[in-house]
Amino acid sequence: SDEQLQQHFDATIERDQRIEPRDWMPEGYRKTLVRQIAQHAHSEIIGMQPEGNWLTRAPSLRRKAILLAKVQDEAGHGLYLYSATETLGADRDDLTGKLVGGRQKYSSIFNYPTLNFADIGVIGWLVDGAAIVNQVPLCRCSYGPYARAMIRICKEESFHQRQGYELLMTMMRGTDEQREMVQDATDRWWWPSLMMFGPPDGDSPNTQQSMAWGIKRHTNDELRQKFVDMTVPQAEALGVSLPDSGLVWNPERGHYDFSEPDWSEFKQVIGGNGPCNAQRLERRRAAHEDGQWVRDAAAAHAAKENARKEG
Ligand code: 3HC
Repeated sequence: SDEQLQQHFDATIERDQRIEPRDWMPEGYRKTLVRQIAQHAHSEIIGMQPEGNWLTRAPSLRRKAILLAKVQDEAGHGLYLYSATETLGADRDDLTGKLVGGRQKYSSIFNYPTLNFADIGVIGWLVDGAAIVNQVPLCRCSYGPYARAMIRICKEESFHQRQGYELLMTMMRGTDEQREMVQDATDRWWWPSLMMFGPPDGDSPNTQQSMAWGIKRHTNDELRQKFVDMTVPQAEALGVSLPDSGLVWNPERGHYDFSEPDWSEFKQVIGGNGPCNAQRLERRRAAHEDGQWVRDAAAAHAAKENARKEG
């Protein structure tokens, strides 16, 4: 009976064990996983645009090769995650339609412009740094395919973060102008990076249920705090300041206190009115349309192959 199925599901979650595609699961569990994994996949694919913007203008062949590898990794992460949604019965074309139609979200962080090459380093350092803090706990997500995808993705993210930090270290050892570029990029990307973790816990409609289902292992504010605590020493080692006069070590808490991000800006950006939302979606829509002939050719080839086999 459904009663027994629900009890078995609850007991599995209770025991901190994995739910696999063929297991019975409450409709709400499936729906929130499709929502989160699809939006995670969309984030990876849209995230290729701000970085791709500098591929043809990288300052050296080495930097170009590294950036090429990173953008390629993001595409792979996206495909990996779309495959995870398919284990839940989602359809990839349908999800792409929802993305370009503005009916599903992608990470707010990718709606900000990349103005110069220091941005590429800061994205590696702060954005991939934040992504790692958010994604490592997802390796223990109760849904098997998502958790396993995360293990592979987290390994590649740490390379992304390290190459960004190394790039910035190189610039900080360069000219005054390069140091100013790194500081300017840090000032522009710091607050949007904190917003990547989502709204404050009191304003997060999904956190409680996602925690109960073992999808989320920490709340938005807990992960945001972890990221701040981890990043402040890195900024000091780099020799840049962080743009928050309220950022100060609190010995009682054993954490850094920091000012509230601008949640009205966050709401604007996830509502589609950030600096680059329109161009990001337009670019994705155009790429999808331009790729129609590839999908048609692949489908025609597959049909011929099947006919030949059955022939
Ligand atoms: N950008 C866009 N939308 C966001 C957001 C953000 N930074 N933070 C929250 N939201 C949305 C949520 O999707 C939700 O809207 P929805 O119900 O329409 O989906 C709403 O705001 C309320 O937020 P909640 O906290 O209640 O939602 P969640 O429980 O889903 O938490 C989350 C949001 C922390 C982003 C969670 O979904 C999550 O951990 N997702 C997986 C990680 C992820 O997507 N990371 C993207 C980082 S970018 C990346 O990975 C690329 C990197 O390699 C560079």
